[in-house]
Amino acid sequence: MGIIVKFNETERLFSRLSDTFSSIIETGLNPEIASTIKQQTKHIVTSLSNRNISTKNIVDRMFQIDQTLEDHVVGTCLVSALIGSLYFDKTELHELVECGLYHDVGKTLIPSHILNKPGKFTLQEYEIMKQHPIFGAQILTSAIESGAKIPEQAICVSLEHHERLDGSGYPYQKTDLSIFSQIVTIADVYSALAMKRVYQDGMDIDGIFKTMDKMVLNQTIYDDFKRMNASIPNLKDLAA
Ligand SMILES: [Fe+2]
Ligand SMILES: [Fe+2]
Repeated sequence: MGIIVKFNETERLFSRLSDTFSSIIETGLNPEIASTIKQQTKHIVTSLSNRNISTKNIVDRMFQIDQTLEDHVVGTCLVSALIGSLYFDKTELHELVECGLYHDVGKTLIPSHILNKPGKFTLQEYEIMKQHPIFGAQILTSAIESGAKIPEQAICVSLEHHERLDGSGYPYQKTDLSIFSQIVTIADVYSALAMKRVYQDGMDIDGIFKTMDKMVLNQTIYDDFKRMNASIPNLKDLAA
């Protein structure tokens, strides 16, 4: 049972991260603080995934199948935590970050030649990719039923993170989306656009917001997030 990290450890890491968040609001974000925050979030991700054997297996599998997924998941957790810190107490924030951690777990059931394909998907490949939210909800449901320490909200977030409030998303064109899903969606898109890939550079901040402005996102949360970006220059470095 050596891998199991006590819940207190995650609490401690969380409170260090929120102290660092408070300091960037006062002092801005230099490359050194950005790298500290990334390290702290990585530790939180590791600590959460080490909560029991099945969470560790799930996260390990996720990071093995796609080399970019670890950075993307850390970026999504980090931005979710930043946005969530505007609205939630520590316990809820904790759950929100766990939802960010597992949002793409369904990708573990997508064939790797599709998942790791550089460039655009064919129509047929895209249809297969669009199944990952359903696969994720199935994986998380059975893991939770078997005793994995994962919040139930993670099932909903996995299923809804590509849905849009106007019904233009996938897989079910749902319009009634949980707040956690709507926050993780914003963090997910931001991280995906900011990240460098083997075949393309990350977008600059203007490009990211131009793209996100055209999406149907929760307007209040998105506006708050944009304000946060304006007050913390280089925030993009955290998600990239
Ligand atoms: Fe996804
Ligand atoms: Fe994602």
